[in-house]
Amino acid sequence: MTAQHSIAVIPGDGIGQEVVPAAIECLLRIGEHNDIAFSFAEFEWGSDYYHRHGRMMPVDALDTMAEHEAIFLGAVGTPSIPDTETLWGMLIPIRRHFEQYINLRPVKTMKGATSPLVTGRVIDLVIVRENTEGEYSEVGGRTYRGLPQETAIQEAIFTRFGISRAARFAADLAQRRRGRLASATKSNGIVHTMPFWDEIVTEVVADYPGVTLESVLIDALAARMVLQPWSFDVIVASNLFGDILSDLGSALTGSIGVAPSGNLNPERKHPSMFEPVHGSAPDIAGMGIANPVGQIWAGAMMLEHLGHPDAALQLTSAFESVLASGRSTRDLGGTMSTAEFTQAVCDQIDVIASAA
Ligand code: NAI
Ligand code: MG
Repeated sequence: MTAQHSIAVIPGDGIGQEVVPAAIECLLRIGEHNDIAFSFAEFEWGSDYYHRHGRMMPVDALDTMAEHEAIFLGAVGTPSIPDTETLWGMLIPIRRHFEQYINLRPVKTMKGATSPLVTGRVIDLVIVRENTEGEYSEVGGRTYRGLPQETAIQEAIFTRFGISRAARFAADLAQRRRGRLASATKSNGIVHTMPFWDEIVTEVVADYPGVTLESVLIDALAARMVLQPWSFDVIVASNLFGDILSDLGSALTGSIGVAPSGNLNPERKHPSMFEPVHGSAPDIAGMGIANPVGQIWAGAMMLEHLGHPDAALQLTSAFESVLASGRSTRDLGGTMSTAEFTQAVCDQIDVIASAA
């Protein structure tokens, strides 16, 4: 029987407009081979919408999205609008309203995507970023604007509830993988929230006898990610630390253009959102050279979330074999355009799916 899935699609800004259609082409092709019918409802929200209406998306946008099973997003952000408006006007409200408290970011070496630093070793780790609280908070303010004593205060919010559900998700994942969990901390310098983070992570992981936990100071962790990235399995991190580490991780595997992410509501009470780690890349937008792998891989994570692990594997295998054959976009040292690379992935899907 054909599986039906209704997906809200927001290409957004910059290269989001290029990589989202590319990934949808691949998803439709995968669907044809696997009896999966997608209905993609596309929404023209983002910075152009902001220029016309003074907001990133309509007032009832969250209700509209709630009618779909998942959200497939490109990127938002444009030089003419402050990033605080674009982020807090769309991404963060979606993540919070739909309780997408896990931001899952796999980091993996692939043949054909050369790491600028690491050769001959396999990097295969997953970053579990807490996605709804922590350092990204609205609490704080600015005072004495323009005066010498001008002050800005930004409060980080950490809750037992928030930390423990992120830690539990990460420990579950580590148990299904190689059993090693590293927790990013900074409890030497940040004296309230980070010792609290450490305590709760330790408490939660104690319920997982198969999982070894190490607490690593974020500065040392960043250095170890450069020097020995293969030594990590699952990393659990606060909103800010996880955000930074995942760009580092994607750069280590060749390009930020290949990294995917899933903003998950693990209870499936609300739609989850799938997007690449990268932003709208205004420097290359409109040139047709963006690497669509991060977006396509985000599509594979969405397939997995929707209950199609075999189709997800076909899709990741397809772009991995195109890369392994030496074909890639410019960020990875290749010469292909977004369209050429996408066509190659679709052709490879036909090969892999017919053999399956
Ligand atoms: P960015 O990720 O857009 O770009 C960083 C660098 O990586 C650029 O040189 C860009 O050309 C390159 N790059 C990124 N994705 C690529 C791809 N798929 N293929 C080839 N090269 C790629 O980050 P940046 O420049 O800091 O931010 C640009 C805008 O995007 C800002 O407005 C920012 O706020 C927004 N942003 C949005 C995110 C989101 O929607 N989730 C995440 C990160 C940034
Ligand atoms: Mg980021």
